[in-house]
Amino acid sequence: MAINTSRLDRLISELCQINKKKVRLILAQRRITVDGVIAVDIDQIVDQFSRVVMDDEVLQENQPHYIMLNKPIGVVCATKDDKHKTVIDLLTGQFDQETRDSLHIVGRLDLNTSGLVLLTNDSRWSERLTSPEHKVSKCYQVTLENPLTTEYIDAFAQGMYFPYEKITTKPAILRIVSTFEAQVILTEGRYHQIKRMFGRFRNPVIGLHRHSIGQLTLDETLKCGESRLLNVSEVIDIGN
Ligand code: URA
Repeated sequence: MAINTSRLDRLISELCQINKKKVRLILAQRRITVDGVIAVDIDQIVDQFSRVVMDDEVLQENQPHYIMLNKPIGVVCATKDDKHKTVIDLLTGQFDQETRDSLHIVGRLDLNTSGLVLLTNDSRWSERLTSPEHKVSKCYQVTLENPLTTEYIDAFAQGMYFPYEKITTKPAILRIVSTFEAQVILTEGRYHQIKRMFGRFRNPVIGLHRHSIGQLTLDETLKCGESRLLNVSEVIDIGN
């Protein structure tokens, strides 16, 4: 996901459809403010949420959105899809078209996985949550077709080699909850990762539900398909 930053002169040039020479003049005339502060530096870096005003005209004003969704099985984690309902479709009624169009998904779930999905228009935030360096944990409840054994715990902790990607999975925590149920904590998100890891034991996953991402747990008051905005502390604390 690209981080939406730009040089101030470039942004004004694009928004006002004027050349950079004119932009320099306008800046020198102290007619531009960025987040309430007079801007004079053409090199100033602004982002998608910087409020940019020329004279009394607002040139850019975008609000960040952070949304938690309880994804049902059968809904696809995509912004558009010809066959299935998408997570964006589920936001209709609660969020307007412009907001829905601005959103991207922070770490997808498979079609037949349920649970916590985050959506945002803030690419810095999503980048931090998904980048390997930050190792933000994701916790899943898994239901298996065959009984679990303690062997699984070591295998998940050691990591498994995936020849197709030529990578070894990062150490994962597996806790046996009952004969057919486990809790798995990953700090990465490889394609079908949990299903493929249990596949090594020829043990099909028959239920997969994401319960939390970092410090953020799926709000139990949200029914399947429902969503809500995150509050400020949830946005800040999630990756800590
Ligand atoms: N692992 C999977 O196999 N599927 C998911 O949706 C998430 C993790």
